[in-house]
Order: sequence, then structure tokens, then C-alpha cells
Amino acid sequence: MARPADEGVVQAVKEAADIVQVVGEVVNLRRAGVNYLGLCPFHGEKTPSFTVSPARKFFHCFGCGESGDVLTFVMRHQNLPFWEALKQLAGRYHIPLPERELSHREREADNRRQELYLLNQRAADLYHDLLLNDPRAAPARAYLAKRRIPSEIITRFRLGYAPERWDFLSKALHDTPPELLVEAGLIVARDSGGGFYDRFRQRVLFPIVNHSGRHLGFGGRALNDGQQPKYLNSPETAVFTKGRTLFGLFQAKEAIRRAGRAVVVEGNFDLISLVTAGIGEVVAPLGTALTQQHVRALKGYAGEVVLLFDGDAAGVKAAMRAVPLFLSARLPARVVVLPDGHDPDTFVNQYGPAELRARLEAALSLPEFAIEQLVARHGLGLEGKGRILEELRPMVAAIDDHDLQRSLFISHFSRTLGLTAEQLGEALAGGPGLPPAPPVPTPALPRQGIQLTDSERHLLAFLVLYPACLDDFVEAGLLEVMASPAAFAIVEAMREAAHQPPPEGGAERLMDYLSGPEERNFVAAQLIDAPANLSEREREAAEKIGWLREHRRKARARELTTRIKEAQLQNDQARVLELLAEKKKLGPGGQG
Ligand code: UTP
Ligand code: MN
Repeated sequence: MARPADEGVVQAVKEAADIVQVVGEVVNLRRAGVNYLGLCPFHGEKTPSFTVSPARKFFHCFGCGESGDVLTFVMRHQNLPFWEALKQLAGRYHIPLPERELSHREREADNRRQELYLLNQRAADLYHDLLLNDPRAAPARAYLAKRRIPSEIITRFRLGYAPERWDFLSKALHDTPPELLVEAGLIVARDSGGGFYDRFRQRVLFPIVNHSGRHLGFGGRALNDGQQPKYLNSPETAVFTKGRTLFGLFQAKEAIRRAGRAVVVEGNFDLISLVTAGIGEVVAPLGTALTQQHVRALKGYAGEVVLLFDGDAAGVKAAMRAVPLFLSARLPARVVVLPDGHDPDTFVNQYGPAELRARLEAALSLPEFAIEQLVARHGLGLEGKGRILEELRPMVAAIDDHDLQRSLFISHFSRTLGLTAEQLGEALAGGPGLPPAPPVPTPALPRQGIQLTDSERHLLAFLVLYPACLDDFVEAGLLEVMASPAAFAIVEAMREAAHQPPPEGGAERLMDYLSGPEERNFVAAQLIDAPANLSEREREAAEKIGWLREHRRKARARELTTRIKEAQLQNDQARVLELLAEKKKLGPGGQG
């Protein structure tokens, strides 16, 4: 988070940044009145419910409830920490950023990381140059030619070659302390006798860069069949985590946005061959199974993912393991399993890009694929169904309890299994320690799906825009009118937001204190639909406060009438007079 000292800058950046421009680069926005509307980049949807309000510099998705300002958008969409997103926008909109004071340790660690990026980049340059120009790289050039990798692709991915030498890199980088090269994973300390040797030898190298092009390490393909292991990757370092990195993402970003989808393959050569074949929207994990972080990273760019896996048992297993990841991330995914014995590289080389594209278009949805696999494996006999339920359980458990997807999943698969949705829901919920599945489908949230009385709606709509009036309203009797649970939740959130220390982020801050989707949508709708001209504020506030006072007066009068009747029944004349006097003080119209 920003420290208080940064707040001025944060505000300046939010002021300067054009949210429609920033969002518009990654979401196809069309004008809708004073606002803009598009397909939400944070969840899969077919009809647009993602709204951007330029006046309020604010976005909200009425489908999934995601909302925030331009900074939140950049953070969420690009998966960046706060400070990085701020830096990016500040740079773009020319707001000077004061050097953030890092602690000594933070600065050390940061410098270290910069050094590691730089070293990996220098190594990549050396290896690339060697591949292109050095006679020692002739076998590697022949190998790449045999695998039909054209020179544009070699350049685009800066492929390299590590020669058959123990000290090529350590010699070339002799100006760098060996300890640092070890930390970067580029050289290895000898077990005995001291000294170091190059990690990568006689391998074609794939530089691994992060989403912004910083060099993290390498994947190295053995040049000869006998060489073990076939692939050698950089070890995990301060800058390289396999479970968070996708090979090719940096190069594929634009293509993914254009295609609206990302294709995930398993191997480096699969990726390179697809790009060569003109399918640019492709990424690959680095020899590990897909992780939740991988899926989240993809969600920042793609509306849909197609898993393109080998046609062997391992490929099927990898796809099955990915099911809960995509379901819980609410990122639609489909699967292509290639004919046995093929991987994407061999397939596209044998059958050509058109055939591969056709397979991609015809891909099965991931849940569909999962159930087909399970039915094929276990059959639909009594015992088979039991096994299928066992395997479906962790997949369903990955979906949020009240998620629409869960109901869709259940109602869809109940048909295949010959059960009712209720039966399947109960069966799946029956597992040990699992949350119960809701038996009936949760309907999608309509924009005004909140349960409010008319008075609640009017008062809250006003207060959302003018939170400063809250105290006056409460004093005039607001809480006596707020009876619905949703109304109460909103007022509570307003009070909480009001009690936070400055800086107040304006009305939008209220969203931070609301968790219910209906309440969030209601508040966002008020913000988004607010007229640009708000000059009537004082008159309206006075009018509403007057209404609240009148409401309270009438309620009191009604109560007094009841109590007068009671006193009369009890023949308590003194009390009756006392109450009548009180009622008279309330003023005219006191009959209720
Ligand atoms: P594969 O064994 O499927 O290789 O590994 P491949 O991609 O088809 O490679 P080629 O076509 O034989 O050259 C898939 C991926 O798993 C990782 C690599 O990232 C590889 O691209 N891997 C594989 C390793 O990390 N280590 C290994 O020993 C093997
Ligand atoms: Mn292969």
C-alpha cells in the first residue's frame, strides 16, 4: 500500500489518468450514455455488464462485482503490485513520482534483483550472438533448421546456444563476481576443489522473460539424444519462480488480446512451432503443471484459454488437473487432446496450421471434457457413477459456494449421470468436510436485484453520492426508515467509510466496505448513473432531511395515539392529558 506521504501523488495520478483510455486498450468499450460498456475482462461473459464511468473515474462489473479506479484496474488486469501500477500510470501521464523511500533491506533486495535481470539478459545476448555467428554453434543452427524454426523466430525469442565448454560464460562475464553468477543460476560451484562451471552446455537456449520482458533465466534443450536431462532449466532464484512464470507470455500478449484467447501448450518447441505456424496467442508453463498463479496471469489477458495437450495419458491427466483451477478462477477453458503420439509441434508440422486451427475451434469445454473422460474411464454403471462422483467432488469444491457456475456445472452433469440436479448437488456435498452445494440454481444478478423499499432506495441513492450528509440524515431519523437488511448493510458501510481517516477517496471508497453483490451493484449503479450536474445537492438534502423529520414526527404521533388509547382504557386521566400535551407539541398533522 502507499504510505500517507504518497497520497498526493496517488491522487494526482488518478486525476491525470484517462480511465476510458486505459481500460479501452484491453476491453472493447462502446459508449452508453455518459458511460462506456464492454465485456468484463475479469470474468467470462457474453453480454456486457462491465461499466466505466469517466466522470467518476471508476469501473464496475455488474456481473462479477469487480470494481475500482484506474489504478485498481491496472493492478488487477496486469497482476501488478500497487507500486508498479502507480509507476506505470505516472510514467504514462507524466506525473513525477518522488523516489519512494525503501528500507535498507528492501533496497538491497531490489538492487540484487535488478542485477540478476541484467546478468540473465547479458547471458542471453551472448548466447544469442553465439548461435547466430559462432562456428561452434553450427550444430545448433543445423538442429534448429531440422526442426523448421525460421530465423525471424530465432530473433524474436532471442534463442541462443551454449557451446560445449565448461567456462564459456564465466569467461565472458569475468567482470562479474562468481557468487552473483551462481545466484543467477548461470554457473555452478564445484563440489570439491573450488572453482565454477557453466550450468548450460551444448544446449539450445530459450530465454525466459516475465510479462514485461525482464530476463529471469533459461530453458535449455539438449542438442543430442544421449544428453540428460532433455531439458535443463534455470533453478529458482530471487527473480525466477516456475509456478508463476509462463514461457512466451511476453511475446504473446498482443496476440492473446487480439484473439481473445490464450492457447496453453506443454513444451517450448510446441510454442515456437505454433508461433512459426502463425498461431501467436500461445504460452507454456516451464515443465511444471499449471498453477493457480498461471491461470490468474492468463486471466489478465485472455477471455478464454484453450489447453492444447499431448495425446498421451500425461496430457489427459494435465488437463484433468487444470479443471478446478479454471473453475475457481472463473476463466472459461476448453481442451484439445491431440492424437496419441503427437504433440503440438509434431502435429502442426505434419498436418499444418489450418488443421490445428480447426482443432482449436472445435475444442471441448473443460468441464465437458472432464466428464467425458470420467465416463470413459469408469462407465455409467452403479460403481462407475460412484467413482465419477468421487472425482467430481474436488472440482465442484473449487467453485465458490454461491457461484452461478456451480449450479450450471451441476445441472449440466446431472443429465449425463442420469440424476436430478438436486440429487447430484447432494451427492457432491456429501463428501467429508465439504460445504453443501445449493440445491437450486442461483439466478444471475439483475442490476437492481436488491430488496429495498422506495424510501430506502431514494435516500440511499442520494447518500451514496453525498456521503457528507450522512450525519444530518442519521440525526433526522435515517435509521428509523432503514428496515431492509440490504439498506442496513449499506448504511453501516457508509458509517464505516466515514470513520476512516483521510484521505477520503470520495464516494467510490464506499465500495471497499461492501461485500454483498446486490449492495455493491446498487451502490455502483448510483455512482455510474449519477448526473454530471450535481448542483441541486443542498436543496435535495434539505428536502430529504425534511422528509425524514416528518416521517419521525408521524411515527411518534402514531405511537402517542396508541398510548393515549391505552391510558383511556385504564382510565388514567392524568396520563391521558400528559400524552395529549406531548402530542400537541409535535405539531399539526399528528394523526399519523
Ligand atoms: P517434452 O518432453 O514433452 O518435450 O517436455 P517437448 O517439448 O516435446 O520437446 P522436444 O519437442 O522433444 O524438443 C515438455 C516440456 O517440459 C519441460 C520443458 O519445458 C519441455 O518443453 N521439461 C521436459 C523439462 O523441464 N525437463 C525435462 O527433462 C523434460
Ligand atoms: Mn516435442
